[in-house]
Amino acid sequence: MNYICSKCGHQEDTGARKAQCDCGGLWDLDYHPPKFDLSLVDSGTWSLFRYRAFMPLAGETWKSVSMGEGMSPVIRLDEDVLLKMEYYMPTLSFKDRGAAVLITHCKTIGVESVVQDSSGNAGNSVAAYCGRSGIGCEIFVPEGTSPKKIAMIKAHGAAVNVVPGSRDNCADVCRAKMKAKNIYYANHVYNPFFYEGTKTYIYETYEQLRRIPENIFVPLGNGTLFIGIVKGLEHLLESGVISRMPKIIAVQGERCDPFARAVSVHAPHPQKVSPAHTLAEGIAIGEPMRGDEILRMIYRHNVEVITAPEDGILPAREQLATKGVYCEHTTAATYAAYLEYRKGKGNLTDCLIPMCGAGLKSDK
Ligand SMILES: Cc1ncc(COP(=O)(O)O)c(C=O)c1O
Ligand SMILES: [Zn+2]
Repeated sequence: MNYICSKCGHQEDTGARKAQCDCGGLWDLDYHPPKFDLSLVDSGTWSLFRYRAFMPLAGETWKSVSMGEGMSPVIRLDEDVLLKMEYYMPTLSFKDRGAAVLITHCKTIGVESVVQDSSGNAGNSVAAYCGRSGIGCEIFVPEGTSPKKIAMIKAHGAAVNVVPGSRDNCADVCRAKMKAKNIYYANHVYNPFFYEGTKTYIYETYEQLRRIPENIFVPLGNGTLFIGIVKGLEHLLESGVISRMPKIIAVQGERCDPFARAVSVHAPHPQKVSPAHTLAEGIAIGEPMRGDEILRMIYRHNVEVITAPEDGILPAREQLATKGVYCEHTTAATYAAYLEYRKGKGNLTDCLIPMCGAGLKSDK
């Protein structure tokens, strides 16, 4: 199995530990799964590894890494909205999908320790799976990260560095350490194995409903769930399992919206944004590393990019909580954006919205 550089096409074995190509391009995987078919799903495995026939994983390492991640129920919120309960996961967020697959890869190639930067949830996931797999772990989080997320990372045995400044600055500091010390970068944005985990969001939805809803809402910061969803849908389409792409609606925060701005002028690159303080910390990414790739997906599939009103986040969270669904602020932002979007739409039915992170992770 090879990595293939998204910029220059250079290939390298996935046993390589380089975070990116020498030219600076990020890695993709030279991997084409077999046609999607429910008969290839291992229904006896109760985790996302039931879809391993469509994943580039060799051997059985996944068995000792998996904690039963994935398998999140789809529940009905109201007549028009289905929620996929992504916070019903080992570390209470959808990032476990990607981390389970990425850390399986790390263990398979014998990685002994990793570094990772995160606004919190991806750090929680990587720390947990590293703890379980006996891999050393150091996580960099930006200042302002919820103390609960930090406590969780530490509890899994990882070292935590709180970095002053923005989320983007935190990533820069982590990457400097990774380069200086030559430690494996178990990063959800750089490492394409992560997307092989997040794409199961779509496989699962299809297996659960035997169809794909018409409107797929997805939060968009660095795009780990977004890219997974697009990959999964493209795979179902190429396999003839669905006959057309559903409408995808990507949600950014109104205080950090590099993709929304780019799309409004049909630009090929995300517009640089310095994020202002926002409750939607998980999607406050001013300089998304896979920005051009994500924009190409946006244009290819006519994805609509909308923004969540900052003052709608807490009311949206309350509204969900009174119906039994207690999610974190970033997740409430997706619902707030949906509520705003539907105002002008009259008839907006058959929507799927992910509940990405648990309410107990937010401070207030
Ligand atoms: C709760 C939650 N929702 C959504 C996202 C957005 O994911 P991404 O930055 O990969 O687009 C994150 C990322 O950390 C998150 O923690
Ligand atoms: Zn390259």
